[in-house]
Amino acid sequence: MTQPPIGIDDIHVHLPDLFISTTGEFARSRGVVPAKLTRGIGIERMAVPDAHEDAATLAAMAILGLMKRSRVHPEDVGKIYIGTESAVDEAKAIGTYVIGMLEKAYGEGSFQECSTVELKSACIGATIALENAIHWLSCEDGLALVVGSDIARYKLRSPGEYTQGAGAVALLVKREPRLLAIDPVFGGFTRDEDDFYRPIGMHTAVVNGRHSNFCYVSAMVEAFAAFRRRAKDRGLFELANGECLTDQLSHLIFHIPYPRMAEYAASAVFREDWRGLDRFSNIQNEIGDEPREADYPDKDSFLQANWEYSKRLAKTALFRKSFEEKVAETTLISRQTGNIYTGSLYLGLSSLREAGRLAPGRRIGMGSYGSGCSALFFSGTVQPGVLDLPIQGLIEGLENRREIDLLEYEALHEGSRTSLNTPKGEFALLGIDETGYRRYGYVP
Ligand code: HMG
Repeated sequence: MTQPPIGIDDIHVHLPDLFISTTGEFARSRGVVPAKLTRGIGIERMAVPDAHEDAATLAAMAILGLMKRSRVHPEDVGKIYIGTESAVDEAKAIGTYVIGMLEKAYGEGSFQECSTVELKSACIGATIALENAIHWLSCEDGLALVVGSDIARYKLRSPGEYTQGAGAVALLVKREPRLLAIDPVFGGFTRDEDDFYRPIGMHTAVVNGRHSNFCYVSAMVEAFAAFRRRAKDRGLFELANGECLTDQLSHLIFHIPYPRMAEYAASAVFREDWRGLDRFSNIQNEIGDEPREADYPDKDSFLQANWEYSKRLAKTALFRKSFEEKVAETTLISRQTGNIYTGSLYLGLSSLREAGRLAPGRRIGMGSYGSGCSALFFSGTVQPGVLDLPIQGLIEGLENRREIDLLEYEALHEGSRTSLNTPKGEFALLGIDETGYRRYGYVP
């Protein structure tokens, strides 16, 4: 018996209402030229969580929005898998708080037969959640909700600061999906690295910026190569002479810690895929041969040379064309939110969907990355149902948020418990009692 397609049926994004612009007051106070942030990094605005928001309220809001849009009944939801690295508790699963909130809307006990787990693996957590949901759905016909929910927070005045953001993306995962059928092939890569981590008790991440970029691209290339090998073995792609796998993808969506990183990732992946083809010989004629590790005194100088080579490749006409056609639009929303960690890859999918770029029958590639570090590359085919799915109106919605000033942003960053917005029509953190238990409510 052939297995029905399994994948993403619908998607809903929830972002905080507050944002700070990276230009103006912020850039001046940090002594940074605004063009570096808007062009060099690619972030124009960063979403900022209010005092009553955390990863649990953001996740609950994303799920509520998704359930309303797609008319999902709680008793049909078998799993709520939440990828997050912004845990609100060291033991209790974030999903239990989320279910507590959802039951305020749907009635006590309405989710009692649903199981939930929190998956931590830095920014790749939501993808591992998705992979697990797909495995569950290959055995049982039901509905799974997969969520990536996070608050990206770095130290004030650090180079990571201008890549912060916050938000949650909820995916409805089922058989016969309307949006994207996921192919049953994942290419993976994992290695122990000290690129980015947040030791227990710390509120901001420790990050080795340049090294984190290197780890990201090398893990992504390895995961892509593993995917290509496994996809070929499984007969997923048939390539004509002179063709490569990315030729058959209408879009490539990468994890987006900041939009320029999607460009670095694309350059490394296209380079891997084009190597050996005539077009790569033309590129070599233009920018020279690739660096060889044996020609460098140590690993670090080789990695730097390799990085510079990918940057030169990113300036070639062939790359610019491929990037504009297949990748550029995936960063549309991230430019206005900053890094939302686990949800970022799926925010890229939302960017394409909201901009009407998902064409039925076309295959897209997705590259997920989590520091520490791991990468997974996979693909999916856009389903005909996408044409009947209304968009969320996310791009217009970005313009209706409230801009805050530097002092307000810094107060929230440093843990102010005073909300700038009075919660309205949303789940909110109402307080944390003396034992550490968090009290949430729905504020009509
Ligand atoms: P930085 O020191 O600001 O970077 O740190 P830079 O000085 O290299 O500048 C960045 C770009 O701006 C360069 O572009 C500059 O030339 C350009 P490039 O040369 O590469 O093309 N630039 C300008 N452009 C226009 N006009 C100007 C100008 N000046 C300079 N005037 C860094 C950047 C990302 C390292 C830092 O922000 C950081 O540490 N961020 C946090 C870590 C991070 O996001 N790493 C990404 C990979 S790791 C990852 O994605 C995982 C993560 O999401 C976490 C998880 O998995 O959980 C973070």
